[in-house]
Amino acid sequence: MSTSEHRLKHLHQRLGGIAYGGDYNPEQWPREVWDEDVRLMKEAGVNLVTLAVFSWSRLETEDGVYDFGWLDEIMGLLHANGIGVDLATPDAVPPAWLITRHPDILPVLADGSTFGFGSRQHFDVSHPVYREKSLAMAEKMGERYAAHPALCMWHVNNEYGPVSYGPHADRAFRSWLQAKYGDLENLNRAWSTDVWGQRYSDWSQVNAPAQPRTWSNPSRRLDYHRFTSDSMLEHYKAERDILRRYTPDLPIVTNFMRFYKNNDYWAWAAEEDAAALDIYPDPREEDAHVAAALNFDLMRSLRRGQPFLVMEQATGAVSQWPVNVSKLPGKMRLGSYQALAQGADSILFFQWRQASGGTERFHSGMVNHAGPNTRIFREVCELGQELKGLGSITGTRSSAKVALVFDWDCWWALELGNSPRSDLNYTQEVLRLYRHFFDANIPVDFVDTKSDLSQYTLVVLPASYLLTDESVNRFEDYVAGGGHLVASYLSGIVDPDNTIRLGGYPGALRNVLGAWSEEMHPLSGEGEAVKLSTTDGGTASADYWTEHLHTTTADVIASYASGRLDGSPAVTRNSFGAGTALYLSARVDSTFLAELLDAECSAAGIRPELDAPLGVQARRRAGNGRSFLLVLNHNDAPARVDVKSGGRDRLTGADITGTVELAANGVLVLEEKPINDATAGTGR
Ligand code: GLA
Repeated sequence: MSTSEHRLKHLHQRLGGIAYGGDYNPEQWPREVWDEDVRLMKEAGVNLVTLAVFSWSRLETEDGVYDFGWLDEIMGLLHANGIGVDLATPDAVPPAWLITRHPDILPVLADGSTFGFGSRQHFDVSHPVYREKSLAMAEKMGERYAAHPALCMWHVNNEYGPVSYGPHADRAFRSWLQAKYGDLENLNRAWSTDVWGQRYSDWSQVNAPAQPRTWSNPSRRLDYHRFTSDSMLEHYKAERDILRRYTPDLPIVTNFMRFYKNNDYWAWAAEEDAAALDIYPDPREEDAHVAAALNFDLMRSLRRGQPFLVMEQATGAVSQWPVNVSKLPGKMRLGSYQALAQGADSILFFQWRQASGGTERFHSGMVNHAGPNTRIFREVCELGQELKGLGSITGTRSSAKVALVFDWDCWWALELGNSPRSDLNYTQEVLRLYRHFFDANIPVDFVDTKSDLSQYTLVVLPASYLLTDESVNRFEDYVAGGGHLVASYLSGIVDPDNTIRLGGYPGALRNVLGAWSEEMHPLSGEGEAVKLSTTDGGTASADYWTEHLHTTTADVIASYASGRLDGSPAVTRNSFGAGTALYLSARVDSTFLAELLDAECSAAGIRPELDAPLGVQARRRAGNGRSFLLVLNHNDAPARVDVKSGGRDRLTGADITGTVELAANGVLVLEEKPINDATAGTGR
């Protein structure tokens, strides 16, 4: 067990199991409300709250004038009532006095304009005073609260993300580039600066890629993505290291966002004790639970299977969409169990008490404007009671035989524009392939392009646009050793400098795929599609993307049967060493995609976790000699599933076997008979 896992294990032991609670902002309420808060928290089964996320202006009221009195008081009150604290460093919101004194802390947009004060995340992380002052605050908080009995964990900043193009960012970017390239000539080469006459003759000329007159250099912008992720991570690490000195045994995290492009979460998660996610599926989207599932699987994968934390979710409506629909009865509970099923060890909300004023006054809380006599608070209490009985699930893991590549370099590089089409959307490409495995109840992990692949029998590369030579070798070795690989169009196109790999697409993967394309042919028209005929006599179609493909050693699985590519291959499979590599050079229709992926799964010995109707999700978590099968009915109608040898229903205490009926949006938490951990997740 790693040191981080020990810290998390200790946290859950202190909390008595699953962490339950949320962001708590007592400074927004009169003192008498605090007593009601803790009373209601106990009623709801809350064991952890996050304090001080946005409290800098209350904790340091003027430069160097600190006021921790109110925080001492609420921490004491919470502790006296058995509620733990996840204490945040408040530097997501530099206070007005600091901004007035140093207005250049405000982030500069690419067009040179500056964000104003009045919201949050209004800082350029490279600003030396911002850094100095936020680290001083971390030092003060570490010193003051290290020994406080309520303190259970640290929460650094909040949803790191603002990007700046100002002078401080310029300077820091230049240093980052100097460390990366050493010699300016290396930078000129890597950025192809001879195109459009952009050569630099002195380092002082190099700066952040602010708004250009027209399209700008994609290699420079790719490096800027890498730099901004690194520079924010550097600041996180500096805060973490301070807190670590004071509390070596407590977990330290920051909160991640769903499908968040700015920060490379693989690099970030490696520096945290757990991946922690804020998840807000839009209730207006019927299948929002599929994208949520993808994000949960990603979070669990970021620390190689270690349980993650749900740091924020909503009980009902949020306030950031054009129309903020509340969650229907039962949906909050269902979403919570979905997170648990996919590896979460906490269910936390934003926020405890719905604000009466300020920006998020219409964002639901665990206690809403109407008070505790409401459906939402009753659901909060019921869930809290249920979770109390499920502590033994914490620390258990799942296992998968399928890995999907998810990589921030690929994401950044794919979406830089000036590409064969401007609407390329990396996460949609990943989601499209992920959805098949979700629907089929086949557990998947995510990997980056550097990950070890040995535990997987099927590896999928969705639009994995940028690949290093090293990762290409790894994929080739994987297939040669008997692995099954599926790559979709727009994989392996560029090298790490964002330079096209020559000699035919997909340059990096030609060898393992046994095929190459001479031209990309995106389909332009609205609804434009072409026909495909499959080698076994079937028909299918493709839209959005096609390529003029040739085979070298691959077999043709499907060819175009209409359009300008009529007769040429569209989908191929190559035998390579002991394994196979399937290439989807076109966006094939979802029925054909499902057939192709089913065939790959069968060839790779992969079975569903449970045979269940569409919309019923099943996931297994196992460890410490125990195995839990969680079955979730995302449908608004009852569903029947065969749980075979079954086990004990941990929510009712009943022993069940065979076919059971799940209510609409219902949940089953089955503790199976003891098994050998190694068999978990293999679809037995
Ligand atoms: C984010 C923030 C919270 C809150 C919620 C609202 O996740 O971290 O402070 O604004 O969004 O959904």
